[in-house]
Amino acid sequence: MKDNLFDIIGNPKERSSINPETVNGGKIYIETYGCQMNLSDSEIVLGLLGEYGYIASVEIENSDVIFLNTCSVRENAEKKIFNRLKALAHYKKKNPNVIIGVLGCMAERLKDNLLNKSKIVDLIVGPDEYRKLPALIENVIETGEKGIAVKLSKAETYDDIIPIRKNSITAWISVMRGCNKFCTYCIVPYTRGRERSRKAKKIVNEAISLNREGIKEITLLGQNVNSYRDAENDFPDLLGMVADAVPDMRIRYVTSHPYDLSDKLLETMAVRKNICKYIHLPVQSGSDRILKLMNREYSIEKYTGIVEKARKLMPEIAFSTDIITGFPTETEDDHKMTLDLIKNIKFDGAFMFAYSPRENTKAFKMDDDVTSAIKHRRLEEIIETQKKISLEINKLNINKTMQILIETLSKKSPEFIMGRTDCNKTVIIPKSNHKIGDYVNVLIERVNSATLFAKEAI
Ligand code: 5AD
Ligand code: SF4
Repeated sequence: MKDNLFDIIGNPKERSSINPETVNGGKIYIETYGCQMNLSDSEIVLGLLGEYGYIASVEIENSDVIFLNTCSVRENAEKKIFNRLKALAHYKKKNPNVIIGVLGCMAERLKDNLLNKSKIVDLIVGPDEYRKLPALIENVIETGEKGIAVKLSKAETYDDIIPIRKNSITAWISVMRGCNKFCTYCIVPYTRGRERSRKAKKIVNEAISLNREGIKEITLLGQNVNSYRDAENDFPDLLGMVADAVPDMRIRYVTSHPYDLSDKLLETMAVRKNICKYIHLPVQSGSDRILKLMNREYSIEKYTGIVEKARKLMPEIAFSTDIITGFPTETEDDHKMTLDLIKNIKFDGAFMFAYSPRENTKAFKMDDDVTSAIKHRRLEEIIETQKKISLEINKLNINKTMQILIETLSKKSPEFIMGRTDCNKTVIIPKSNHKIGDYVNVLIERVNSATLFAKEAI
């Protein structure tokens, strides 16, 4: 990295409609909120703008364009963005030429209404319209006119764009976009449109070139990655092809949906050493009645069946999940079923949320009848229960030797570094002579519910 700028991959593409003096070389700063799809999209946006000579910047100061790549999944996520826009309004007062753009799900959901909510926004661009960014930026510079592009596409996958990746060791590859599931609480199908997949061959080639660049671990990304499909291949085929093409790389994938997770996928994982034995499998609720109202299309029996089958095939496999508390009509009994489920399955980790009604979803028409206090009390109970389970599971690793891939310096101290096990556990070890990207065998000494602490195994 030089001068706080990422290197640009490929040569800037000349385009006659762009004035190189005003545009090429402009610095783009992106703040990304929400899911990994958004992180991957920000890399795609930088790749796309890089082709037009723009440079990625890691600091706001001296940037020509500031993008917020936003999330709409819960009201709180949107509140955070509005607060950020308020702070940026002060910045824009002092730097009136800076262009401020809102990308991602909030752009798609609120469209031009965003202009009324925040006067400082110059660009509003939804997830399927990023190819328009160079022309839209140019237009703001030339005319001062605000730009909006929020059409959803049935075909856009940005297949030809080389993302500009910030990480040098791990990489995301977006393999499909959109979601057709329409879970009744979820805004994603409305903000990211219908499912569409990239060709397996292209994805395999991307993995091979990342391998050559020295990347050690790849995560295949999709909103509902298990429903990936190109003309010849389903998701297990794709996963197997990628894993076989780069046998010395670790392969992960996210996010799974229990309805689409097949035995074939578990078998594909089981027979390949380099596919990480970890599945993020959102369950959302432990009550079949609530799952039906959520339109999740599986029962708890089916869900636990998948977990049991996976554990039979791969005894070391780790599971994490997502849970929503306080969905409309959720009773104390339903809540207890969720608590029983997490005690029964013993997830390694969980992301837990209070239900947040989202306009235009089916659940929005239901009465949001669980009070905020009850939703949050149930959430606390679930968080506390899960914490104990995570600690219990992590304790089982004490005195065990594991291999980790070193990813970064520890956030808390430069004397320590952070790596991850195959099963996605975060491990802290003394830095010693280790470098980012090394595989190290470590002996686990102590744990808490989120992290393992270790020393190098001799
Ligand atoms: N309220 C609360 N949580 C939600 N999620 C999605 N939509 C909502 C909502 N309206 C959660 C789900 C999903 C995760 C990404 O976010 O648990 O799996
Ligand atoms: Fe939302 Fe359900 Fe699609 Fe996940 S599967 S993105 S929760 S609609």
